[in-house]
Amino acid sequence: ADSVNKNIKGEPASVIPVIDSTNQYLIQRISELKSGDVCIAEYQSAGRGRRGRQWISPFGRNLYLSMYWRLDQGPAAAIGLSLVVGVIMAEVLQKLGADGVKVKWPNDLYLNDKKLSGILVELTGKTGDVAHIVTGIGINIAMSKNQTEAINQQWINLEQVGIKIDRNELACEITNALREAFVQFEKQGLSMFIERWKRLDNFMDRRVKLIIGEKEIFGIAKGINDQGALLLEQDGKIIPYIGGEISLRIA
Ligand code: BTN
Repeated sequence: ADSVNKNIKGEPASVIPVIDSTNQYLIQRISELKSGDVCIAEYQSAGRGRRGRQWISPFGRNLYLSMYWRLDQGPAAAIGLSLVVGVIMAEVLQKLGADGVKVKWPNDLYLNDKKLSGILVELTGKTGDVAHIVTGIGINIAMSKNQTEAINQQWINLEQVGIKIDRNELACEITNALREAFVQFEKQGLSMFIERWKRLDNFMDRRVKLIIGEKEIFGIAKGINDQGALLLEQDGKIIPYIGGEISLRIA
């Protein structure tokens, strides 16, 4: 815990070796939290992924980190916030030597076209217009194949591609950068992040398929707009897509 916290600016993170879920830990304590409070674990027994999936979280070899934020703009701004998280994480990873880390709309990180990291944004305890947001990130650093047999999608970790990043340093840098970026997002929305997103977009100008319920939509990915919608070029027109039920694939 000390070596994680020595470089974190502001409030130290709660570092808890074994936990059910860092997101759950913060959600249970919403009323005591301040924006920017962070929880980090070495192992999660009930790590959560999006769409009710499990996030397999082997001991000591990956990063599991959650941050609380009180968002006065309300729940509608949460999609924007989650895009900011992706941009910040990709930038931090690149800065620490993981060239080639990219973002996938709305909130995964990719490396070599495989999933490196997932982001789970949970909204809770809405009072009036204020949204209480817990952002959880899991980054694959060095988990081994036999720890992760149950994962049914293509994943990658940093170690596999020879990238060595100190986990504690990564946790500090992400904490500091996220706190700064969320303050900026509260003042100015997504505007500051759109061009940065485009530079990091794994699918920019590539042909993709959107799956929306039973429907499949094809087009060329063109980044995001200031609402955080995915932009798709179809028959020469740019159409925005937004919503929780859309999944993006390469076509
Ligand atoms: C996804 O499905 O891609 C999102 C995965 C998010 C996993 C992280 S690990 C830290 C935090 N605590 C959780 O229980 N989940 C998130």
